[in-house]
Amino acid sequence: MVEPTLNTSKSKTLFERAKKILPGGVNSPVRAFEPYPFFVECAQGSKMYDADSKAYVDYCMAYGALLLGHAYPEIMEAVKNQLAKGTLYGAPTEREVEFAELIQKASPCMEMLRLVNSGTEATMHAIRAARGYTGRKKIVKFEGCFHGSHDSVLVKAGSGATSFGAPNSLGIPEETTRNTIVLPYNDVEALEVAFKSEGSDIATVIVEPVLANVGLILPKKDYLSYLRKVTSDYGSVLIFDEIITGFRLALGGAQEHFNIKPDMATLGKVLGGGFPLAAFGGKKEIMQTISPVGKVYQAGTFSGNPVSATAGFTILSILSQKKNQIYPNLEKKCLELKKALSDLAASHKVSAQVYNIASLYQIFFTKEQVTDYACAKHSDAQMFTAYFHELLRQGVFIPPSQYETCFVSTAHSEEDLKFTINAFDKALEAASKERKTK
Ligand SMILES: Cc1ncc(COP(=O)(O)O)c(C=O)c1O
Repeated sequence: MVEPTLNTSKSKTLFERAKKILPGGVNSPVRAFEPYPFFVECAQGSKMYDADSKAYVDYCMAYGALLLGHAYPEIMEAVKNQLAKGTLYGAPTEREVEFAELIQKASPCMEMLRLVNSGTEATMHAIRAARGYTGRKKIVKFEGCFHGSHDSVLVKAGSGATSFGAPNSLGIPEETTRNTIVLPYNDVEALEVAFKSEGSDIATVIVEPVLANVGLILPKKDYLSYLRKVTSDYGSVLIFDEIITGFRLALGGAQEHFNIKPDMATLGKVLGGGFPLAAFGGKKEIMQTISPVGKVYQAGTFSGNPVSATAGFTILSILSQKKNQIYPNLEKKCLELKKALSDLAASHKVSAQVYNIASLYQIFFTKEQVTDYACAKHSDAQMFTAYFHELLRQGVFIPPSQYETCFVSTAHSEEDLKFTINAFDKALEAASKERKTK
């Protein structure tokens, strides 16, 4: 039985009230955890404060969306100025154009792009464009990849779908997912077999270049290059879902980090500067299938709205100007946390794998290397829960599930890191006790 977090009685009351009106008391399942989540009062920089005024050093960072931390002053100021000029026009603005140009510069595979409101919309429309362009029906996705909550990709999906035991959601007709081929990640042979038998029917392969929705799993050497080659050979559209890796692995995301150019990419989270915004884009000939130029329909009342576009333009301007300071610094902080976590796990005699890349890290409680979804599912999720709850008690918030990733922001200070490492020590002790009591 999980002990309640200390001093969170207002959150407890709010959760009871929320459960009566919101399914599970939340507006997105990943926010729910036992016995009840804390309810946020406000946030600034690296910290969030709950309804009872308890502070947490935050490594969830809105599931990776906040690269510069909470309420970054320059973004807040730009948005305030925009609010005074109106929030939504239903007509185009210069801001959308200059923003799109800036995105294109960072992510050159996007010869053309479109702004949308969420990662789910971005991947849904990217897949539709790839199908429209190729005239093929089948898509390939990988076990444990999460591409949002639309029908064709909710098959063996990671993130909350795995945490809550619904990787294949009810409510999706079997006819819809019949065209989704699901393969293990990091397995070249499985790809070869699939392409040999169905390659000419495969419209697209969509992949998180680094898996960040089943914990953190890195691609094996040359795996992404092989993916690039096989999709080119068979005329299938390669989509990098960079909703997490975009502006995290580098300004140009995984494409820049691994030096691989996909045919299309999706961006979200960091791109919106804390506001709802995402983008999909790619080769001109694919994007010109989109309405009103072509016959692939895509639309949105709030797409490219001036408030989100202003926040996105501001963060992207900052990242573009300061990338040489920001990215090495984030990586350094993340490495410090990873190293401390590995060393402390060893000193507590806890079998664990700790992975990191750029500003992402995660621990798995297992002896074996984690290279795919099946390995991730073998790690000890109960130990993770004990680790999570002790961190929370200590005032450190990470995503509540083993099947998520932790995010470092520019707002995390050396003092935050020291505080966190101290909390890691206690949390690993709690995890080791959980193992011993089993
Ligand atoms: C890789 C990836 N793609 C797509 C999505 C869906 O994005 P959104 O939650 O903005 O719809 C997510 C969300 O976590 C994601 O991690």
